[in-house]
Amino acid sequence: MAIHIKSAAEIEKMRISGAILRKVHNAIAPYVVPGASTMDLERVAVEHIAKHGAIAAFKGYHGYPSALCTSINNEVVHGMPNAKRILKEGDVLSIDCGCIIDGYYSDAAVTYAVGKVSAINERLLSVTQASLEAAIQQCHPGGRLGDISFAVQQPCEAAGFGVVREFVGHGIGRAMHEDPQVPNFGPAGKGPRLKAGMVLAIEPMINAGKPEVRVLPDGWTAVTVDGSYSAHFEHTVAITKDGPLVLTR
Ligand code: MF3
Ligand code: CO
Repeated sequence: MAIHIKSAAEIEKMRISGAILRKVHNAIAPYVVPGASTMDLERVAVEHIAKHGAIAAFKGYHGYPSALCTSINNEVVHGMPNAKRILKEGDVLSIDCGCIIDGYYSDAAVTYAVGKVSAINERLLSVTQASLEAAIQQCHPGGRLGDISFAVQQPCEAAGFGVVREFVGHGIGRAMHEDPQVPNFGPAGKGPRLKAGMVLAIEPMINAGKPEVRVLPDGWTAVTVDGSYSAHFEHTVAITKDGPLVLTR
């Protein structure tokens, strides 16, 4: 239940973990094209994680089978790479990945438009990404956790989008999920005080339609109940005395 405060040496280790994770994401990006399978992307991820001497954080987590979560269109999070899932023009693909280096975790996600997507989905991606950036700007000592949550919720709901309630961001460090939970909704000015040395994975999961989600019988894939498309962006962010330090940029 306690929020771990990281030392400068620990944040330095997490910075290295985050920098490697960004290289992995960057290596995958050119393969996000029509005709690629999500298993093709998984292979690129596994290769690059190994090349940097890192460990895939998701593989084996509660039995999860892969290094990546690849969630397409109405899939919100935790879609599993599959050789039969072929990307096509107009798809919206969230890629979520985590690394462990020297015992320290990093976690980041990005949602791509595959070729040209509809106007509403283009807006979904830009508003969701902007909400993450607004939330990062709240990562100052003395603020409250609710400032982060509200910074995500406000612009997304103002745009008419649904903020997912069932999944939340989290503290991160020597475990992938530490306290506190970081909801993408809730009032500003409430919740725990933000302190230098906290490290948070902030991850808006936003639906073009209603907020409700359900999990498919595979036990992992979360989809929107109304079939609308969903976007997910995530950064691992350290709170320093000078403000936010994005470790996965
Ligand atoms: N980024 C997600 C999270 O923060 C991914 C972990 S789910 C896993 O919880 F099971 F695939 F590992
Ligand atoms: Co996460």
